[in-house]
Amino acid sequence: MDLKLLEQLTQTFGPSGYEDEIRAVIRTVVEPLADELRVDPLGSLVVYRKGTGEGKKIALAAHMDEIGLMATYIEEKGYVRFTSIGGVRPLNCIGGRARFANGVTGVIYAERRDDASTVPELRHLYIDVGATGRADCPVAVGDPAQFVGPLTRQGQRLVSKTLDDRIGCYVLIEVLRQLAATPHDLYFVFSTQEEIGLAGARTTAFRIDPDIAISVDVTATGDTPKALPMAVELGKGPAVKVKDSGMIAHPLVRDMLVAAAQKAGVPYQMEILVGGSTDAAAMQLVRSGVPSGCLSIPCRFVHSPSEMVDEADVENAIAVLLTALRTTV
Ligand code: CO
Ligand code: ZN
Repeated sequence: MDLKLLEQLTQTFGPSGYEDEIRAVIRTVVEPLADELRVDPLGSLVVYRKGTGEGKKIALAAHMDEIGLMATYIEEKGYVRFTSIGGVRPLNCIGGRARFANGVTGVIYAERRDDASTVPELRHLYIDVGATGRADCPVAVGDPAQFVGPLTRQGQRLVSKTLDDRIGCYVLIEVLRQLAATPHDLYFVFSTQEEIGLAGARTTAFRIDPDIAISVDVTATGDTPKALPMAVELGKGPAVKVKDSGMIAHPLVRDMLVAAAQKAGVPYQMEILVGGSTDAAAMQLVRSGVPSGCLSIPCRFVHSPSEMVDEADVENAIAVLLTALRTTV
């Protein structure tokens, strides 16, 4: 694994709607690999790779935005109140840190509560950025922040903030690097604003007008204490989506990914995700409809500052996509 690249991808700033920095990082890496490259009006980066002409037009999407926080109010004593960008859970915030675009980093904590037996709501949390009052607070209302969580490796496991979905971006970059000739016309989409409503992939898919769309994103696992029953485990292979709360994967795409996994000789799992969805749900609904599916990277602790994936699942996801894209459908 190119851990240097993954570190850069996971640590770079890019809450939904503020993807300029992460797009610049990805652009530098993919520009030499592109036949054409463009940035759509909502900020998605699209890398085009020309096929030999015997294939389909296929869009592949991984979102480059991350969940985060946004300052809503600065208190007299300099504490920053905030709202969420995307699916932020209060329990995943307390004691953690938030970093603003200008580098200011603060501690996220909860008000003292008389009854500490319940989970506080976001409105009971604040960020201490070291200010002594409103006047010297280095954060302004409307400033977005990302969570802090370095990339570490424990055996086969990789841990970092924002593996959702920079690990998907990593997979698409590796496919771009390793894919030589392909029968298909391929559009690699590094999408924006997935976490707040799939906006980038939706609008970009409209312009591409693909025959098939595939998202590459993380999915939950059923292998942690008292997890919801789910037939996906970390380290057992990439997961081919059957259904999530936003879509039913098109059988054509589902079967194409299963066939590719078998052909590549790598382990794979079938995914039914009860809560959550991906860019594929938006891409299937553009124009007259696009057969869509998703290849998922199993991930524990999704939307926390310490998301965890297995390195082999990442490598095997790359192998599945390379095989799928070298095969005609
Ligand atoms: Co997410
Ligand atoms: Zn995601």
